[in-house]
Amino acid sequence: MENFNFYSPTEFVFGKGRENEVGELVRKYGGSKVLVHFGGGSAVRSGLLDRVKASLEKSGVSYCELGGVQPNPRDTLVYKGIELARNEGVDMLLAVGGGSVIDSSKAIAAGVLYDGDFWDLYSGTPITKALPVGTVLTIAAAGSEGSPNTVITKEEGMIKRGSGSDLLRPKFSVLDPELTQTLPAYQTACGATDIMAHVFERYFTNTPEVEITDRLCEAVLLTMVKETPRVIKDPDNYDARANIMWAGMVAHNNICGVGRAQDWNSHGLEHELSGLYDVAHGAGLAVIMPAWMEYVCTHDIERFCMMATRVFGVDMNFKDPESTAREGIRRFRQFLKGIGMPINFAELGAKAEDIPTLIEKLGIGNGKRAGFVELDRKDVENIYNIAVNAKL
Ligand code: NZQ
Ligand code: ZN
Repeated sequence: MENFNFYSPTEFVFGKGRENEVGELVRKYGGSKVLVHFGGGSAVRSGLLDRVKASLEKSGVSYCELGGVQPNPRDTLVYKGIELARNEGVDMLLAVGGGSVIDSSKAIAAGVLYDGDFWDLYSGTPITKALPVGTVLTIAAAGSEGSPNTVITKEEGMIKRGSGSDLLRPKFSVLDPELTQTLPAYQTACGATDIMAHVFERYFTNTPEVEITDRLCEAVLLTMVKETPRVIKDPDNYDARANIMWAGMVAHNNICGVGRAQDWNSHGLEHELSGLYDVAHGAGLAVIMPAWMEYVCTHDIERFCMMATRVFGVDMNFKDPESTAREGIRRFRQFLKGIGMPINFAELGAKAEDIPTLIEKLGIGNGKRAGFVELDRKDVENIYNIAVNAKL
């Protein structure tokens, strides 16, 4: 195990009706004027936004509002948010929604206190200051409610880029599983896929002797394999929703990733797909992650056999371990298909002829992407090609 720091300062406020405490939470973390940021309408339709505003009013917190965050949140709305927050003298961001709303809030929080163009902060300039952020989560997926990360798409050229800083970890996150019961099955499944991918990106490591994090990863994966089909079948199953919601946080606040090298290449390759086609991040991962697994599995057959046997219940074939590893990947893809995810380019709405563009946008040049297995341009092309033709 490698040396590590683990820093997860967010207060998680979990359970039914907890969004009614948001006013007190804002006060507790020093907010007096918040920008309430939300998405395309689900929080308005469900009445959540009204409950949040009532709670703020009850606690004497003043607020302004900015809705309209799109999935794959855009820089254009971030600029508007920065201007609004400055004009209104906002001292805290309150995100009411999913990963896209939270990431847009994080971008505004950092952008308000930055002197130049906020996009610099997504192009290599470190984030050194940010307003505090609080969240009321409505979809278990991105894990942004406990993560230091934010991903924004520049509308011009549809360039999707991430940034991060511990300063962006939310001060508090309200996690009420009931709020996720209004999700369409497709969005629930996209979220579940993203949660599993966050674990796999940590599970496939070259660091030896990391039993504790291996086992934590497997626990989250087993939970997702059990609970996801339950909520797809019965969207109002509170207990299954609750387990998935907490799994989404545990998958990405890095408790499963400490002390070990990680590999974020599937996310990197996927971000180009959701950037170019504006598809859901989880759907893109369902297409890319198993393709990446197929391509790299011979690098460490034993680890892929661990996944196959412990997570997907495959019998170990001691005479032919590679067949066990490949059966595990097949079962993962079968699971994804079973919850309604696309598994190849055509089902996602992507085109094989765009592969050169995807690679160009990835900016790999003649270099290599670090990871469990280093990837050069040709490797990336091969992985995209596996994803084009994937079937069960
Ligand atoms: O906009 P509304 O109307 O709210 O609809 C949203 C949106 O269409 C809908 N939705 C959310 N909660 C709902 C609901 N519909 C009904 N009932 C509810 N309770 O779901 C759709 C998707 O929402 P979105 O916020 O885009 O989903 P998600 O949480 O998956 O976020 C995706 C974004 O997060 C980024 C992704 O790249 C993508 O841009 N990521 C952020 C990470 C981070 N900050 O740590 C890590 C991830 O790997 C990921 O890259
Ligand atoms: Zn993700």
